[in-house]
Amino acid sequence: MNEEIAVQLTSQPKEKPDEQHLGFGQYFTDHMFVMDYTDGQGWHDPRIVPYAPISLDPAAMVFHYGQAVFEGMKAFPHESGKVLLFRPDQNMQRLNISNDRLGIPEVSGPFVIKAIQKLVDTDRSWIPQAPGTSLYIRPFIIATEPCLGVRSSYTYQLLIILSPVGAYYSEGLQPVKINVESSYTRAVQGGIGFAKAAGNYAASIKAQNDAKKEGFSQVLWLDAIEKKYIEEVGSMNIFFKINGQVITPAINGSILEGVTRRSVIALLQSWGVPVEERKISMEEVLQASISGQLDEAFGTGTAAVISPVGELHWNDQEIHINQGNIGEISQRLYDSLTGIQTGRLPDEFNWTISF
Ligand code: COI
Repeated sequence: MNEEIAVQLTSQPKEKPDEQHLGFGQYFTDHMFVMDYTDGQGWHDPRIVPYAPISLDPAAMVFHYGQAVFEGMKAFPHESGKVLLFRPDQNMQRLNISNDRLGIPEVSGPFVIKAIQKLVDTDRSWIPQAPGTSLYIRPFIIATEPCLGVRSSYTYQLLIILSPVGAYYSEGLQPVKINVESSYTRAVQGGIGFAKAAGNYAASIKAQNDAKKEGFSQVLWLDAIEKKYIEEVGSMNIFFKINGQVITPAINGSILEGVTRRSVIALLQSWGVPVEERKISMEEVLQASISGQLDEAFGTGTAAVISPVGELHWNDQEIHINQGNIGEISQRLYDSLTGIQTGRLPDEFNWTISF
């Protein structure tokens, strides 16, 4: 795709929020990117327009059958005045994996990265500068054809919106308390768990509400069949450090393959920390805790970066991890990842692009 991206600037720029109280995903910038897809024509009319509500037919298929996928990325300010993006190619690869699973047409990754750059550049003044903040980038695709037949839509819209954000969890890097979910299931092999599909998050909300009522920040998901093996936590992948070794559930068709997960594995390997991707059961975690070998647990994700886990509740068992403190590996990973993302540390892996 080589179409020119048209730009229509807003005549009413919004007031910017206080960088110290951004929260997550509550403020949106002045512009958004929109591109249409029509069967037979492909993706067309890429444009940057003032941020505004969109108009859709009530019969638009996304409302009825949930053909919707998204990505999450972040832009960081560099001291040179440039903007850094972290591994956008990986997000584009995954977007097309999600598209394929949901019957949504493929997009050109390089073109969407170009659109992201142009949009971020248009709203450059919205990139927050305070430590721990960034500009969250949310590309998403929805089925727009008005039709109640259950099939792939003939028309779609790809939109990109931007949100200045602080920490995903109000706890920041403080360890969170997590409920291990033994009744509900997030995803099963053959389903859509590996895709970044809106429906996966819909499937997670009731358990998350229940957990919140009990004072937990998030839910840890187990495998759908045996309810034994650990899958992922809330909107993150999960890692455990047991007896000096870092273990994360292997990609199995129902777990989302996180870009942060992949980056954490590469960092650990480069530090010579043994890291294994394999099945890991709650029983193994409990036994490691009882024998004093469970050193750390942490979630990884674009939004949260690294989120240490201080407590896990599994049925009647309470597992306390690292006395509720931030673990050494969690802290080192957080510092290294955010250091690379913001350009404070050298980017030995060539993960960032700047513009
Ligand atoms: C991310 O980490 O970027 C996510 O997509 C998680 C989320 C749904 C906020």
